[in-house]
Amino acid sequence: MRYGHFDDTRREYVITRPDTPLPWINYLGTDAFFGIISNTAGGYSCYRDARLRRITRYRYNSVPPDSGGRYVYLRDNGSGQYWSPSWQPTQRKLDHYECRHGLSYTQIASAYLGVRAETLYFVPLDETLEIWRLRVSNERDTPADISVFSSVEFCLWDAQDDATNFQRNYSTGEVEVADGVIYHKTEYRERRDHVAYFACSEPLAGFDTQRAAFLGAYRGWDRPAAVERGESFNSIAHGWSPHGSHHVRLSLAPGETREVVFLLGYWENPRDQKFDPPGSGVINKALVRPVIDRWLQPATVAEGFDRLRESWTSLLSTLRVDTPDGDANRMANIWNPYQCVVTFEMSRSVSLFESGIGRGMGFRDSNQDLLGFVHMAPGRSRARILDLASTQLATGGAYHQFQPLTKRGNNDIGSGFNDDPLWLVLGVAAYLKETGDASILDEPVPYDNAEDSATALYVHLERSLRYTLDRLGPHGLPLIGRADWNDCLNLNCFSDTPGESFQTTVNKDGGGAESVFIAGLFILAAKDLAEIAERRGLAGDASSYRAAAEKMAGSIVEHAWDGAWFRRAYDYFGNAVGSSENEEGQIFVEPQGICVMSGIGVQNGMATRALDSVREHLATAHGIVLLRPAYTRYHVELGEISSYPPGYKENAGVFCHTNPWVMIAEAMVGRGDAAFDYYKRINPSAREEIAEIHRCEPYVYAQMIAGKEAPTHGEAKNSWLTGTAAWNLVAITQWILGIRAEFDGLRIDPVLPAEWPGFTATRRFRDATYEISVRNPAGVSGRVGHLLVGGESIAGTLVPLAPPGATVNVEAVIR
Ligand code: BGC
Ligand code: NOJ
Repeated sequence: MRYGHFDDTRREYVITRPDTPLPWINYLGTDAFFGIISNTAGGYSCYRDARLRRITRYRYNSVPPDSGGRYVYLRDNGSGQYWSPSWQPTQRKLDHYECRHGLSYTQIASAYLGVRAETLYFVPLDETLEIWRLRVSNERDTPADISVFSSVEFCLWDAQDDATNFQRNYSTGEVEVADGVIYHKTEYRERRDHVAYFACSEPLAGFDTQRAAFLGAYRGWDRPAAVERGESFNSIAHGWSPHGSHHVRLSLAPGETREVVFLLGYWENPRDQKFDPPGSGVINKALVRPVIDRWLQPATVAEGFDRLRESWTSLLSTLRVDTPDGDANRMANIWNPYQCVVTFEMSRSVSLFESGIGRGMGFRDSNQDLLGFVHMAPGRSRARILDLASTQLATGGAYHQFQPLTKRGNNDIGSGFNDDPLWLVLGVAAYLKETGDASILDEPVPYDNAEDSATALYVHLERSLRYTLDRLGPHGLPLIGRADWNDCLNLNCFSDTPGESFQTTVNKDGGGAESVFIAGLFILAAKDLAEIAERRGLAGDASSYRAAAEKMAGSIVEHAWDGAWFRRAYDYFGNAVGSSENEEGQIFVEPQGICVMSGIGVQNGMATRALDSVREHLATAHGIVLLRPAYTRYHVELGEISSYPPGYKENAGVFCHTNPWVMIAEAMVGRGDAAFDYYKRINPSAREEIAEIHRCEPYVYAQMIAGKEAPTHGEAKNSWLTGTAAWNLVAITQWILGIRAEFDGLRIDPVLPAEWPGFTATRRFRDATYEISVRNPAGVSGRVGHLLVGGESIAGTLVPLAPPGATVNVEAVIR
């Protein structure tokens, strides 16, 4: 069953009924001002940091769901009837409803009582404001007298404090209303230099700024008193809950359309120019007012929207593919890169499953997000790499996350995840392969942001590897620390206190818990750093990294091969995890993916054996589950993983992030059919027709799909902010289609399903354009047998770098 359809030409997903299984959201903003918006206009906005600069309030886990948003109410003043043109919150049954989620904008259109309304929401490039462009049309054959009410609820900036500290916050709220603009100025009297504002292009019939006045006693968003009676109260908030609502009256002739623009913005004043007159406590509006005036002009709005769309066209043009599979094309060309941009910006901070408070910008997560982003925006990737590396610790270790506003690392969700530093090497390597910009390696970068601690970025990478090598366990495998990629495999945590966080509880010292996953990751990182060192003229470094990688591979083969698959770990007591010796959790997916990716067993059959075991034990119609059999009881020595009921999350859910590792591994061993088959199973577009089972948005990947031991097998959760986005884009474009940026050129090494006749692609790479055509005349899942570059046959599969500005034709034939 479907709730809408894709419009590929407009790069939109069109939702045709409002009551989707869950709110289906989209993101607004591309730089500093961000928001989420659901298909019924729910959601919130923030400036840079969803915890410390939350602009509007949202109630997570509320009833009805999706409570709080960018609401518009329309009232037919003739009959007194009122409704929400976005369906929520009044839920009046609309005669027509359509929500179009596009790239960084959402448009919701509907019709009721002969009045059509269409609201376009977007954040213009380079601005710290969002626009709601409302068009109201009278489709009756008589005049219509319509009231429009806008509504936002201001959050008192710090979202954590906002949800907890009522004894203070009910007394701090302050607003100003001046020239039709509502300013939210809570705490501006003291240390804040910023205000939020809510402006409207039309003369106001009234306004409200105190929520209780607007709604009326004991009423919800579905029945605001002001809307019901058709007149604002002109309330001024003193404490309690500052809110913003404009009231505009429109007299519409039959067939007439009117446009009303609302702006919700964030503004910072220089500290010494906060007040006007100085010392008065009144906001100085001289600097913000011209911005407001400009963006209230319909022409500026139209132009701003065009620029936003053009910026997406240009971003997405870095790589375009045309394959025989429509779902793959749609995801690879539009939605997957879009999701990669969103994950790059948001990391794991703002979604319907991430509250914007707890998990901010992950170190591991952000480095992986780069893998799916760097080709689109190398400049922003460079800046992110330097920010991330600046939080690295002098030991080579890393904070698990950092705060976007302060860019400082914190231990709020734990520390000592021993895989973290290695991801930095992968992120930097991806940047170097994409750009060739070796200057980044010489950038002075501090440790833990401490002044005078800086070394060249290259030294950070060395320390990342050293961090692993200094922490090896009894089998020569890396010590796991608190956890590795799998945050829930907590082999040193031993928590038996209810409710205690597995992420922050004491990590038991002295054990030898080791991670096979980190071992595989180390090999990938060491090989990358060897290549980097070689190109810096450091042949000695390069060979020592290669030797370390080889030694690690030896330890894996010797101590982590279980007979038919790679083991997952050794626990605190030295017992194997993910082994046929175990009663539960006998096989895990992560080591099969990462060990094969690191090259182990590709030549000698061990890799295909491990991948066959994945197919046999872990593959389901809804994707590959993380482990099997699921843990049916709590294992204190394994930690959070066994806290989940069987089939959910890390306990044998289809943890989608890991699936592309298996796709890549299958491609590496040359099995294109298997690789693409796995790709299709979790591709959200391919799952659109089972939307009632999948339940999350059909245009983006979810972190998790319930596994086969779960009663809700096939149900997705935690959509949007997941490493699944970057890794799936890598898997389909770089390994299945085989178009990979490398240090010295563009690799063309597709591993396709046998039945594909071929595909074409355009890739912009280091200022040249590559027009790629791959043919598979024999209908095999083989490798490139013949490569022509500019009509000339070349040996191997690496297309050498072309001069800037060149267009290069690349033709490959599969054999
Ligand atoms: C989740 C993990 C997540 C971790 C982050 C756990 O509860 O299951 O997926 O990475 O929290 O702290
Ligand atoms: C989600 C986290 O964001 C990510 O860092 C982690 O690797 C996975 N969960 C697996 O636990």
